Amino acid sequence: MFEVWFKNAVIYCLDVETYADSNGDGVGDFAGLSERLDYLTGLGVTCIWLLPFFPSPNRDNGYDISNYYDVDSRFGHLGDFVEFTQKARDRGIRVILDLVVNHTSNQHPWFQAARSDPKSPYRDYYIWSESEPKDARQGVVFPGVQDAIWTYDKQAKAYYHHRFYDFQPDLNMANPKVREEIRKVMGFWLELGISGFRVDAAPFLIDQEGAQAHPDENPYRYLTDMRSFLSWRSPDAILLAEANVTMDKVLKYFGDGTRFHMIFNFYLNQHLFLSLAKQDAGPIREAIAAAPPLPDLSQWGNFLRNHDELDLGRLAEAEREQVFEQFGPDPKMQLYDRGIRRRFLPMMGGDERRAMMAFSLMFSLPGTPVIWYGDEIGMGDDLTQKERQAVRTPMQWNPDENGGFSTASPKDVVRSVISKGEYGYQKRNVMHQRRDPNSMLNRLERLIRMRKECPEFGYGQIAVLPSTDPAVLAHCCATSSGTLVGVHNLSDQPKKTRLDVTDHGAKSIVEILGDHPYEVRKGAAHDLELEPYGFRWFRLGDDIP
Ligand code: NOJ
Repeated sequence: MFEVWFKNAVIYCLDVETYADSNGDGVGDFAGLSERLDYLTGLGVTCIWLLPFFPSPNRDNGYDISNYYDVDSRFGHLGDFVEFTQKARDRGIRVILDLVVNHTSNQHPWFQAARSDPKSPYRDYYIWSESEPKDARQGVVFPGVQDAIWTYDKQAKAYYHHRFYDFQPDLNMANPKVREEIRKVMGFWLELGISGFRVDAAPFLIDQEGAQAHPDENPYRYLTDMRSFLSWRSPDAILLAEANVTMDKVLKYFGDGTRFHMIFNFYLNQHLFLSLAKQDAGPIREAIAAAPPLPDLSQWGNFLRNHDELDLGRLAEAEREQVFEQFGPDPKMQLYDRGIRRRFLPMMGGDERRAMMAFSLMFSLPGTPVIWYGDEIGMGDDLTQKERQAVRTPMQWNPDENGGFSTASPKDVVRSVISKGEYGYQKRNVMHQRRDPNSMLNRLERLIRMRKECPEFGYGQIAVLPSTDPAVLAHCCATSSGTLVGVHNLSDQPKKTRLDVTDHGAKSIVEILGDHPYEVRKGAAHDLELEPYGFRWFRLGDDIP
C-alpha cells in the first residue's frame, strides 16, 4: 500500500473567529486557537481546515476577501498564524486553508481599481458586460437573498458577474494574470508550512459564464495546472475541492490523479440523510453504487455537517421533502429552497445513539472523515441568527459565562453563544463531556482512534454485503493488508441480520468497535442482533490487532 497522509487523516474544520478568544475582546483569535491545540490532539484529529481568516469586510463569514496575504487583525497577525502552525506541527497536526479564488470582495483593491478605470490593468481581472445579460437572474446560488448573477456597477458603468452575493465579484479565470495571482497566493501560504487547500466553489473556477476562455481550451486543464503548481511547490500538499457535481462529472475533477486529491462527497452526504430520514439503507447503497472507482491516489471527503446549510439539492423533490419533514420541518429551519440550516444533533432529535451511529457510518464509508467543530460535543443551532450563521455559534468549552469562549461581556461577543435549553453551554460543553466516559466527546475520540487503526476504510475498495433487513447496511473495505466490515442499523427498532463473510475467505471475525460490550466470535457467519441505531466494526481473521 502506497501511503499518503490524507487517506488516513481525520480532518476538523473550524472558524478562528468563533473558536477561542484569548484576549477578551469577544472575537476568537489565533492565540486562543493555539491554546486549544492540546484539546484537538486529545480528540485525535490529524488535520485542521481553517475557514477564511483573511482581511475581509466579513459579509459572507470571510468568504469575501479583501487581501489574500494577511490575517484579519481581529484574529492576530501573521506571526500568530505561524506560531499556531508551528505548534500544530509539533503535535502532528497538519493545517489546510480555504482557497477562495472564484471571487474577491468588492472592497479588494483589484476590484476598486477595475471599477474606477476601464483602462486599469485590473479591469480584466473581473468579468464585465456592457448590457444586462439575458440570464442575469438565473442560476443564483442563494435564492431568497441573492437576486441576480450580474449586477450593474455605477462607477464601472457596466454589469459584473458574481455567482454568489453581489459583493463578491467573480475573478476572470481566463485572464493569465489572474492565474498568476492565484499561484502567488498559493505559494505564499505553502511557504508558511501549510499542507494544502480546501478549494472553494471549485466548479465555478472552470465554468464562468461570460468569461472569454480560449475556445479550444479544455476547462479542466486549469485544474491540472493548479495541481501541478501545488505539487512542485509542496509535494505532499493537497487540494480538497468543494465540488457538488454529479457523479458522471466527478472523475474529470480527479483527472486520473492529476487534479484534485480529494472531493467532498456531497452525493453520499445527501443520501445518508435520506437514509436516516427513511430508516432505510437503500439510499446509501444507491450512493455507493453511483460512485465510480477512484484513481489510486484520489479520495472522497466524507462529512455529516459543515459550515453551510445541509444542501439537499441533488435529491429528487419528494426525497428532499422527506428529509425536510424529518429534520427541518419548520420553514425557519430551511434555507435557499434546498437546504437545512441546523446542526447535526438537533436534527437527530438530540438522540446521541443515532448521532454516534451516523458518525460511525460516515467514518467507515470510503473516504476521509471531516468533522465540523462543535459536533463532537453535539452543539446546537441558533435559528434566530441569520442564514447559515445558525450553525456557526461560538465553541462551548465550559459552563462559565459565554461557554468559556470569551471573557468579554456577552453583548460584545462576536456571535451569541447558545445559552438556553438542552444545547445551552451550561449543559453542553467540553468540560462536562471530558468527565463523562460515555459522552459524545469520549465516544467520538474512541471512534477516531479506531478509524486511525483502520486504514482499510481510507484506502480500500468498498463492497456492500448482503443484509437480511433493509434498515441495516453491511459493507466491507479491503486492501492487501486486511478487510474491515461495518454494520449499521438505521432504524429506531432493534434488528437482526445475518453477516456471512465466508466468500471473503475469512474463517472468523474480530469485533473492534461497537455500541455494546464486545463478544468473541468464531466462524465466518453470524446472526447479529443490533440495538436501535446499533453499529459494529469487525476485522476479518483471527488476529486481534
Ligand atoms: C462556498 C462556501 O462554503 C460558502 O460558505 C460561501 O458562502 C460560498 N462558497 C461563497 O464563497
